[in-house]
Amino acid sequence: MNKDKKYIEVLNIAKSLLSKDCQSLSNMANLCALLKEKFDFHWVGFYLVNEKNNSLYLGPFQGPLACTDIPFGKGVCGQAWSQNKILNVPDVHKFVGHIACSSLSNSEIVIPVVSANKVIAVLDIDSIEFNAFDKMDERYLAELISFI
Ligand code: SME
Repeated sequence: MNKDKKYIEVLNIAKSLLSKDCQSLSNMANLCALLKEKFDFHWVGFYLVNEKNNSLYLGPFQGPLACTDIPFGKGVCGQAWSQNKILNVPDVHKFVGHIACSSLSNSEIVIPVVSANKVIAVLDIDSIEFNAFDKMDERYLAELISFI
């Protein structure tokens, strides 16, 4: 099955499964499970904003153990948060400040989750392939997080 078809399937499931009536954490957990199962990414997870100490903390995820705290502006996740922008990194080894939670990751995409004009979390996906993500991933992942 090609990537477009996989995303359409994930979107259809997400539309019926994820609900604004559920806690965001529950929606995040199910979205991680959906993406991990369909695409077999190395790691899929959320980091949530902690305004008190200006850092991100580990939220729901699927995959190997990960680092728990990422300060504002640090790593790919902290930069996606500080810039409020999708960061698509084809080769994490060339990204200055990349935080390596797993030595197997070679590319990464981070999508900010925005609510009431503020970044409240980021979705982080790691792949063992280089250059694993493209505009199609950016478009569908941005749509998927709108259901959280
Ligand atoms: N690589 C991320 C850290 C989180 S892990 O990939 C799970 C970063 O540089 O922000």
